[in-house]
Amino acid sequence: MQERIPLVIDTDMAYGSPQADIDDAVALLFALASPEFDLLAVSAAGGNAAPGCVSRNLDSLLRLVSADIPHSFSCSRPIDPGFWVNARWSSSPAKPAARSEYPDLPDSVQLLYSTLSASAEPVTLVTIGPMTNTALLLIQHPDIAGKIGRIVSMGGSIHMDGVAGGPAEFNIKADPEAAAAVFSSGIPVFLFPLDVTKKKRIYPETIASWEGRGPLIRSLREASVAFMKHRAERDGYYPPYAFFHDVLPLAYLADPSLFTMRECSVSVDLHGDLTRGVTVFDMASSGAHVAVDVDSDRVLALAEGRIMERFGTL
Ligand code: RIB
Ligand code: CA
Repeated sequence: MQERIPLVIDTDMAYGSPQADIDDAVALLFALASPEFDLLAVSAAGGNAAPGCVSRNLDSLLRLVSADIPHSFSCSRPIDPGFWVNARWSSSPAKPAARSEYPDLPDSVQLLYSTLSASAEPVTLVTIGPMTNTALLLIQHPDIAGKIGRIVSMGGSIHMDGVAGGPAEFNIKADPEAAAAVFSSGIPVFLFPLDVTKKKRIYPETIASWEGRGPLIRSLREASVAFMKHRAERDGYYPPYAFFHDVLPLAYLADPSLFTMRECSVSVDLHGDLTRGVTVFDMASSGAHVAVDVDSDRVLALAEGRIMERFGTL
C-alpha cells in the first residue's frame, strides 16, 4: 500500500452553528474515513462562523466521532481586522465559545507550528476556510515553510463568479492579505476554485439516501437542507441547493485522476473598491496548480461511500 499523506486541515467549520453550511464537516469526515491520509492535526479558523463558534464546532464533531486528533481554538481575526467578514460573524445567531471554555486547546497558529515542527517529512496543509492561520504562521515563523510540502486550498474563482455581495470567492474575500501572502510564499499551491466546486449542485434529493442512517448522518443531512432553504429564501431562488466545495481538495489528494489541473499563476486584488479579494489567474504564466475540471459525480460517490462506511451508524 502507498504511504499515507501526512496532512493538516485548517477549517472554518460552521456545522454545529444555526443555518450552517456543512461542507467543511463533510470534508473533515471524508479525511478521517480515507486510508490515504495520516491526519496529524486540525486547526480552527474564523470565517464561515466566528472563531469561537468554529472552535466549538470542531471540538464537538471530533469528540462525537471519537477522533483523537490534535485540534485548536482560533483567536485570529483577518490580517486586516476591519474587514467585511466581521459583519457576517456578528450577525450569526450563535454565541461564540469563550477562550476560557477550552483551556486545553492550543491556539491555531501554535498547533500548526508544533505539528509541522515535529514532522520528519513535509506535510500537506489543506485550507478550507480563510487563509488567516497559514499566513500568520508564515509571518510569525518563516522557518516553518520548509516543513510544508504543499498548500491545497478551496478558494478563488477563475471566472469571477463569487458570493452574494461581490465577485470574490468567500475564503479569499474573508482575508485577501492572507491569501496574497500564501500565494507569494514560494510553497507549491494547489487551488480548487468555485469553477469546479460549483459544478455539482447538492439538492435535498441528492442526499436523501443519507436518511435512515445514524443520528450524526441524519443531523448533517437536516443541517444541510436547512442551510439550503435559508440561503434560497435569503437570495430568492428555487429550488434550494448547496455545494460541497471543501470536499474537492481532499478528493484530489485521495484520487488526483478525478481532476483536470492546469499550471498558471494566481494573484489577489487587494485594493479594488468592488473587486477586493478577486483572484486573477494568468493561464500564460506558471506558479500554481489550479483545478479547471472535475468528475463531480465520482467525487460525490467517493465521499459518500467512505463517510457512510465509516460513520454511517453514528
Ligand atoms: O466559497 C466557498 C467556501 O466558503 C467554502 O470553504 C465554504 O465552506 C464557505 O465557507
Ligand atoms: Ca469552509
